[in-house]
Amino acid sequence: MNSEALKRLVAQAACDEVLKQPAGQCLGIGTGSTANWFIDLLAPHQSHFAGVVSSSVASTQRLIQQGFYVLDTNQVTDLPVYVDGADEINPQGHMIKGGGGALTREKIIAAMAKRFICICDASKQVAVLGHFPLPLEIIPLAEPCIMRTITALGGEGRLRMVGVTGQPFITDNGGWILDVHGLSITQPVQLEAQINQIPGVVTVGLFAQRKADLLLVGGPTGVVAVAHSQ
Ligand code: A5P
Repeated sequence: MNSEALKRLVAQAACDEVLKQPAGQCLGIGTGSTANWFIDLLAPHQSHFAGVVSSSVASTQRLIQQGFYVLDTNQVTDLPVYVDGADEINPQGHMIKGGGGALTREKIIAAMAKRFICICDASKQVAVLGHFPLPLEIIPLAEPCIMRTITALGGEGRLRMVGVTGQPFITDNGGWILDVHGLSITQPVQLEAQINQIPGVVTVGLFAQRKADLLLVGGPTGVVAVAHSQ
């Protein structure tokens, strides 16, 4: 099975999971190619939900095209489940996210949700996080200062650019993204707290303090479900 087939498989498993929820509740939906499969496969069942909240402009546009009722996060007080992909996930359920640049809204919705269901293919499972560069959303004027702090932590920060335009990638919130290479993240909870303290960092793409509650992984033998306690 190729990577797209695995993403579709795991997205279907997530649809089956969220449709076990009572009708009339809200649902959080993330960003990326796996989340896109989830949106498309869930579209025929959209009336099961009172509405959805989305972690990016791109997902919101896709959800609206598919006919979902998209709510602002400010309108939602009860969010039973959030479904999203990940760039890396370790055996404890800690994740690196933000490959698509949507980490800040993803973290807000993850914090709102009672359950975080992570959907990915088996290539995202790692023993130690950090081979995938760790994204930080930052306030642009703080970039040189943050870069120095990241170097002192042993990482190499690279400003994310838009292709070969020479222009920085701008997030949905007007921030920039620093991708931090060269980290071997053996203590994700501590590193998340440490990076959160750097002035000018809006969000670090480590999801360790609030990790996945349920991981659905697509592999050659099908979908494996792994539950994690917080
Ligand atoms: C978006 O900012 C990310 O956190 C995505 O959830 C993550 O990059 C996974 O994306 P794919 O499903 O496209 O691999």
